[in-house]
Amino acid sequence: MRLVGKDRKTGAMIKDFWDRKSRENAMYYISTYRPYDQQDPEEFWKWGRILTERYLTASGISFTGEEVVLDLGCGMGRMTRTLAERFHLVYGLDVSDEMIRLARESLKDCANVRFEVGNGTDLACFADETFDFVFSYITLQHVPGAALTQQYIREMGRVLTDGGYAYFQVDNARPSLRSLVRLRSRLRALVRALHLPAPAQLGERSMAGPGVAGPSELDHPAYRGSRLTQRQLRTACTDATLDVEDLQGLGSHELWVRARRRRRT
Ligand SMILES: C[S@@+](CC[C@H](N)C(=O)[O-])C[C@H]1O[C@@H](n2cnc3c(N)ncnc32)[C@H](O)[C@@H]1O
Repeated sequence: MRLVGKDRKTGAMIKDFWDRKSRENAMYYISTYRPYDQQDPEEFWKWGRILTERYLTASGISFTGEEVVLDLGCGMGRMTRTLAERFHLVYGLDVSDEMIRLARESLKDCANVRFEVGNGTDLACFADETFDFVFSYITLQHVPGAALTQQYIREMGRVLTDGGYAYFQVDNARPSLRSLVRLRSRLRALVRALHLPAPAQLGERSMAGPGVAGPSELDHPAYRGSRLTQRQLRTACTDATLDVEDLQGLGSHELWVRARRRRRT
């Protein structure tokens, strides 16, 4: 599939953002759980395992272990590693060259893992019917615009084999909740710009102290991402010939979707 001009520009903007952020502090921008300046690699990888196991179980899918799997938005491979232990062959795809460089370095001991740098807008680097399972966590929530998220979902349908599963997370939070999160990001930036002490009452866990480097650009379109409504989700799944089997977390930032590729005729 050839990128049209608008997609190419958006893809380049996303790539530029995530390349910069992964060079700045990859672990923080993957998981903002710990404060910006207190990253702990051991904990980072431990949580990659815990979360992967948690979501594979929650998916309710009966796997054989023989599946060929795509980890869409793999980052440093935090979850790809655990997927590689469970499945025959795992591909990690990410828009950022730098994330993929870090992932290759971190998972060089994993013989059944391949990495690809994507264009940020589709899965053009993969042929039709390549995967038995597509997994994605905290990636589609960063995609700037529901139309682009829908494009990724249509692509999942294309690259899945008949009967294959997609299990992925999207942001379905109510607009008021999203606005609150954006307001908090803006306050963070303001406090940093003014070099004020971090106000504990903001619930600020990820804030470095005054004058210390901290998170930035949290309001950038490639980070802020977008919300997908249930209707937009269902439309994309229908286009992709994906049957939605289960939705968990409607109305929240973590809407998990289990969908199955219908047989091609
Ligand atoms: C928050 S991190 C999550 C990484 C991984 N899923 C994990 O939980 O460890 C989001 C990842 O998605 C990638 N990403 C963001 N937008 C993307 C896009 N449009 N296409 C592919 N990857 C994207 C980023 O480069 C980043 O590595």
